[in-house]
Amino acid sequence: MSKMLGVFVGLLLVGLAASAKFDELFQPSWAMDHFIHEGELLKLKLDNYSGAGFGSKSKYMFGKVTILLKLVEGDSAGTVTAFYMSSDGPTHNEFDFEFLGNTTGEPYSVQTNVYVNGVGNREQRLNLWFDPTKDFHTYSIFWNQRQVVFLVDETPIRVHTNLEHKGIPFPKDQAMGVYSSIWNADDWATQGGRVKTDWSHAPFVATYKDFQIDACECPVPVTSADSAKKCSSSEDNKYWWDQPTLSELNLHQSHQLMWVRANHMLYDYCADTARFPVVPAECVHHPHHSRETNYH
Ligand SMILES: *[C@@H]1O[C@H](CO)[C@@H](O)[C@H](O)[C@H]1NC(C)=O
Ligand SMILES: *[C@@H]1O[C@H](CO)[C@@H](O)[C@H](O)[C@H]1NC(C)=O
Repeated sequence: MSKMLGVFVGLLLVGLAASAKFDELFQPSWAMDHFIHEGELLKLKLDNYSGAGFGSKSKYMFGKVTILLKLVEGDSAGTVTAFYMSSDGPTHNEFDFEFLGNTTGEPYSVQTNVYVNGVGNREQRLNLWFDPTKDFHTYSIFWNQRQVVFLVDETPIRVHTNLEHKGIPFPKDQAMGVYSSIWNADDWATQGGRVKTDWSHAPFVATYKDFQIDACECPVPVTSADSAKKCSSSEDNKYWWDQPTLSELNLHQSHQLMWVRANHMLYDYCADTARFPVVPAECVHHPHHSRETNYH
């Protein structure tokens, strides 16, 4: 009996810790009245009045950010739920996950994008190997001086490699905030914008369970140079994400990425010759990109 009580109290404490964590790390950016706190769960609601979004209180450089998210159940057509890191200003950097809703029974798509010095246009799109509306799954962004890796349940789905030695800029000099939001994007999100949001199915709800930020926190306000210095490993300060083994995917992860690309890829800007007659520079040199690959 006392053992069961112990387990029960333990669960309560875990619940409290997790829900405290949102307030510790994040704050609503807009539409506070579209936030629902339910025990350990945080729900963001989209209806015909508003979506909702939140952002981290701090900025970060390098490390890993993970959310545990369950996407909108049933009809989610026209809606986008986003999870991203971004710096500020006209030459900002940004790493994006965008979850594009669909009609009931049709699969969500996951679009990723990378902005460097204010320029994006690096979309990739894939479908998932599970239904992201049925359960919580982890979505992570890992970032160090060598690479940016997008992960789903620890499986890498995309790598953006540092190719500065080829003269290609890499985002490693601006601290970034962590953001998530849900909004209406029925002009483009679902089946190319052909399927509109059906407001009779509102509210559309994205549910969050846990947030982890294991990254170098930069005091705000702070200059980029100071952040870059503080967050770079030095003689007496070694950050875990700077371990040599994390400078590229390991063999197992490379195989996982190849599997994802072979089986789940819907679109890759690197292979879009109509849109980019001249192959984007990073695609030429990128080990995981190839113009020969055919996606179907
Ligand atoms: C939003 O939806 C509600 C419920 O369907 C409806 O009563 C209301 O008129 C709508 N408001 C707007 C601004 O469309
Ligand atoms: C929605 O479902 C359709 C039909 O299965 C599919 O072609 C499309 O890629 C899916 N995702 C989006 C965002 O439209």
